[in-house]
Amino acid sequence: MLARIIDDLVTHGWSQQPVFLPQTLTAELAQECRARNAAGELAPAGIGRAATQMIHEGIRNDLILWLDPGCSAPGDRALAAFEELRQAINRELFLGLEELECHFALYPPGGFYQRHLDRFRDDDCRTVTVVCYLNDPDWRPEHGGELRLYLPEGVRDVVPLGGTLMCFMSDRIEHEVRPASRERLSLTGWFRRRPL
Ligand code: OGA
Ligand code: MN
Repeated sequence: MLARIIDDLVTHGWSQQPVFLPQTLTAELAQECRARNAAGELAPAGIGRAATQMIHEGIRNDLILWLDPGCSAPGDRALAAFEELRQAINRELFLGLEELECHFALYPPGGFYQRHLDRFRDDDCRTVTVVCYLNDPDWRPEHGGELRLYLPEGVRDVVPLGGTLMCFMSDRIEHEVRPASRERLSLTGWFRRRPL
């Protein structure tokens, strides 16, 4: 799978994998995300970097919690899976990815994130975006919540099924999160390179 992701990144700039994390781990992470939200640990996501961060309801309205190593056993297993991917990308593509920043994201029903790029004007270190969906297996296309990619050949909508990994070049692929009729969960991260 790692080889397929790298191939896709080179050829298309993005990759979709139906099963990145095992189903049991996906369910544990979803449970952790919901429990931490119930405990009030998630906070409205800002736009842009911490220093210039502003809560901007018109652009996105998800809640996030940064996931650091040692937060939980499932969290550490997910970080280990991302770490394998980081090392594989570096071996093959020489992108010099040094670290991962990663957060849980919960979009309440109706939540969205308007069309954007993940690389900020004031921070060009985000290089590869990874999004792993934590939704229950009974998520249906009619629930919405698609990740919409704006590709040269047109728009592509990805249903946020639990276990699915989306991976794309942060500086190239414009995308948005479409509103969903139910709560939408993910673990979202960015492999960062060293500042130039
Ligand atoms: C983001 C983002 C996509 C998704 O957090 O920057 O675009 O499908 N997330 O959750
Ligand atoms: Mn994004």
